[in-house]
Amino acid sequence: MRLEEIMMTIYGNHLEVMEKILSHLVEDIKQYSSHYEHLNYRIKSDESMREKCLRKQLPVNENSVLHGITDSIGIRGVTSFLDDVYYCKDMIKSLDYVEVVKEKDYIKNVKKNGYRSYHMILKIEGYFVEVQLRTIAMDSWAALEHKVSYKHQLKNKELIQEELKRCADELASCDLSMQTIKTLIEEDEL
Ligand code: GTP
Ligand code: MG
Repeated sequence: MRLEEIMMTIYGNHLEVMEKILSHLVEDIKQYSSHYEHLNYRIKSDESMREKCLRKQLPVNENSVLHGITDSIGIRGVTSFLDDVYYCKDMIKSLDYVEVVKEKDYIKNVKKNGYRSYHMILKIEGYFVEVQLRTIAMDSWAALEHKVSYKHQLKNKELIQEELKRCADELASCDLSMQTIKTLIEEDEL
C-alpha cells in the first residue's frame, strides 16, 4: 500500500472517535466563552499527519499517529488578556476526564525567537490533544513568524528575525499594560 493509503486507513479507523473527543472538549470550553476571544480547533489532515511522520522520521503507522505525534487533535484558544490564558488553562485542567501529560509555559519561558503561548498536551480516552492558549497579540505575532519560518530563501532573514523578536517583546509589554489597566478597572468596580 502507498503511504497515502496507509494513512487514510489509520485515520478511517480513528476519525470518528477523535471527532467525538474534540467536540466534547470544545463544548466544555465554550462554557467559559467570556474568557476568550475565539477558539479554533481541528483534526490534523491525513496529509499533514503523513508529512509530519516523515519529517520526524517516524514510520507511517498507527503507533506513530496515536502515540508518536501528539497534535492530531488540536485546540487553540485566543484571549484578549493575559490572565484569561491562565484562567482557561486552569479550567481545562479541572475537567475530570482530562489528564495533563505535558505543560509548557512559553509565556514565562519565552522561546529565543520571541514566541509566547501556553501549551498543554492532554490525554483523553487514550488520545492526545494539543492545546495552545495565547493572547490576540501573541497570536498575530505567531502567524507572522510562521510565514518566515517556512521561507528558507528569505534575503533579509536575520534582520526580519531580529525585528520579529523586538516586536514580540513590544507586544508582550503591551499585553502587560493592558492587563494592568483591566485589573485597575476591575478593582474599581468592586
Ligand atoms: P512540534 O513543533 O509540533 O514538532 O512539537 P514540539 O515538541 O516542538 O512542541 P512545541 O510545544 O514547541 O510546539 C508545538 C506547536 O506550537 C507547533 O507545532 C506550532 O504550532 C507552535 N509553535 C511552537 N513554537 C513556535 C514558534 O516558534 N513559532 C510559531 N509560529 N509557532 C510555534
Ligand atoms: Mg516545535
